[in-house]
Amino acid sequence: MADVRHLRAAGVSLVLDFTGGTLPRIRHWGADLGALSESELDAVVLARSPHPIGFSVDGAVDVAVLPEQSAGWLGTPGIVGNRAGRDFSTAFRVLSVDGPVVRATDEAAGLELELTVELLPSGLLRQRAALTNTGTGPFSVDAVNLTLPVPTEAVELLDFTGRWGRERSPQRTAFTQGLRVRENRTGRTGYDSAYLLAAGTAGFGNRSGEVWAVHTAWSGNHRTFAERTYHSVSLLGSGELLLSGEVVLAPGEAYTSPWQYASWGVGLDEVSARFHRHLRSRPSHPSSPRPVVVNTWEAVYFDHDLDRLTALADAAASVGAERFVLDDGWFGSRRDDKRGLGDWYVSDEVWPDGLTPLTDHVTGLGMQFGIWVEPEMVNPDSDLARAHPDWLMAAGDRLPGPARSQQVLDLARPEAYAYVLERLDDLLSTYPVSYLKWDHNRDLVDAGHRPTGRAGVHGQTLAVYRLLDELRARHPGVEIESCSSGGARVDLEVLERTDRVWVSDCIDALERQSVQRWTNALIPLELMGTHVGAGTSHTTRRSHPLDFRAGTALFGHFGIEWDLTAASPSDLDRLREWVALYKSLRGLLHTGVAVHGDHPDPAVDVHGVVAEDGSDAVFAVVSVATSAYYPPGPVRLPGLAPDLRYHVRPLAPGDVPAGNADDWGVRLPWWTPSGVTLPGRVLGSAGVQTPVQHPERLVLLRATAV
Ligand code: DGJ
Repeated sequence: MADVRHLRAAGVSLVLDFTGGTLPRIRHWGADLGALSESELDAVVLARSPHPIGFSVDGAVDVAVLPEQSAGWLGTPGIVGNRAGRDFSTAFRVLSVDGPVVRATDEAAGLELELTVELLPSGLLRQRAALTNTGTGPFSVDAVNLTLPVPTEAVELLDFTGRWGRERSPQRTAFTQGLRVRENRTGRTGYDSAYLLAAGTAGFGNRSGEVWAVHTAWSGNHRTFAERTYHSVSLLGSGELLLSGEVVLAPGEAYTSPWQYASWGVGLDEVSARFHRHLRSRPSHPSSPRPVVVNTWEAVYFDHDLDRLTALADAAASVGAERFVLDDGWFGSRRDDKRGLGDWYVSDEVWPDGLTPLTDHVTGLGMQFGIWVEPEMVNPDSDLARAHPDWLMAAGDRLPGPARSQQVLDLARPEAYAYVLERLDDLLSTYPVSYLKWDHNRDLVDAGHRPTGRAGVHGQTLAVYRLLDELRARHPGVEIESCSSGGARVDLEVLERTDRVWVSDCIDALERQSVQRWTNALIPLELMGTHVGAGTSHTTRRSHPLDFRAGTALFGHFGIEWDLTAASPSDLDRLREWVALYKSLRGLLHTGVAVHGDHPDPAVDVHGVVAEDGSDAVFAVVSVATSAYYPPGPVRLPGLAPDLRYHVRPLAPGDVPAGNADDWGVRLPWWTPSGVTLPGRVLGSAGVQTPVQHPERLVLLRATAV
């Protein structure tokens, strides 16, 4: 009889086959198979067992979640490592299966493995591996890769790339034979990380097609891949990307891989919803209403002046802001981005009376106070670097080339770690800080621990996690934002210890339509920092009206990053209306299901949020370019409950159509506060005609069940 387990959750089935005592093989991961009897499960295993081919080894090549060459698999191995050249290939035997934990040993190789494979209540699958050296002598680990099989029907791949100011750009390719590997060696999650690697049926979209997707939850170097062989094995896989010699296990030592998360669904929206539900189920998930943020960066940059900042705080409070975040420039000699990083002492030069005059003013206005730090970095022109030149990461004696005039502080070094912890702890203890914007502004190049010069990205990544954990334990009320020159550190492991991410340094609303949409593919809106910038974007020099900027920032954790002291009274009034709308909608936006349409016109984008019970929804219809059509066809409103009837109407202040028709006084008949009332089924299939808009404009719709 087969030794097989069938796990089911939220419409997903996972069938794990342990027959024969080798590492578990997945016989099915995808749509729920329904309740299956033992004999039916045996039959599934029999019917799904691979065809013997006999070219690598006689019999079938059966690929486990941690693939092994000893099973005849000649694709990417689960473990790459050796003990002085030996034990390069493993043959694990399972010792025990205790819930999600599988313990296995390869006595000849002197290795023990603890695999955790679990199907979470959201239907997300996650797994990781811990490898222990039980032999004599050191064992070098070069890679530990975990994989998941996807069916032959998955013929297209979607993953992401990016750069500063343009994170998470989608790219699609055919899923052909061979290995598509997305490597990240930047020492942080990366602008251009794969983020989510999805395989799907032909033409899969937001609402259609079967999709299987993996995410590597790691903030250091990592590798995410899709592999397809001539014998019809198709895998998604991932692991940490270890630098040469980075992990060498002494006898008794263990290495633990990052978590690999995976989601199956019909359409990308269902894949994303599983990630969102999982994140929302964490005890640490922010539960208070996400406050309206004002961030000082694009408002004042390094011009820290009490009068200027208190005036900004006054303007912020007057439009309804709830959190004021003092960005870079408050410490040491940091009057520009060339000096002072690492000297985490309030600057006497710009803050002769400390930060208290500002924090008093901000908290007196009823706002929370937040502050920027970049704890992993140091400018060579700083007291810290002058006092401790050996705390900088380097390959031997050669310092890496500077980036943004900075170097990386080796946090795996206990004295450096203790210094940063003490400084941050002091900052949080001295001032009423309820929010840290934690930045990280360069790639890790030649990042070795001194004096040995040994590769150190793995150790640095773990040290940063430790530091975040320790600070959170000491200051449980403080929220932390993960920022990395914009959105270069967005992953599920950093989000285990942070409360939101800064999506991108580009707050041009048009660019943000794409960056936010795809960031939302993995994480829910309440974890995404989305700000209203100045009328002309500082990063692209494009100009947009306030309604487009604010209607874009609405879909996230709303904030403002604009010198409000220079804004016109009418802009401030309008912004106040948008802030009020955000406050009235955040309950829905931050608990509901994110939905995205598949409008055939590339100039039209439809996205929104539908309450989990279908009772309420908000949609944006965005004109992202000029259309070949006039008007573009009706838009389908995705995700509504088919059998509920909805009152659909334009939602102020996002109700102003800005297009030629409107300029000419030609009105769309139903575009009135009374709107239309129709079943969700009709709205989702026939859709509604929305106003013709100029490019880079949007309108909002509200749909409430009646
Ligand atoms: C990069 C961040 O992404 C910006 O928001 C800002 O905080 C600057 N660093 C400050 O140096």
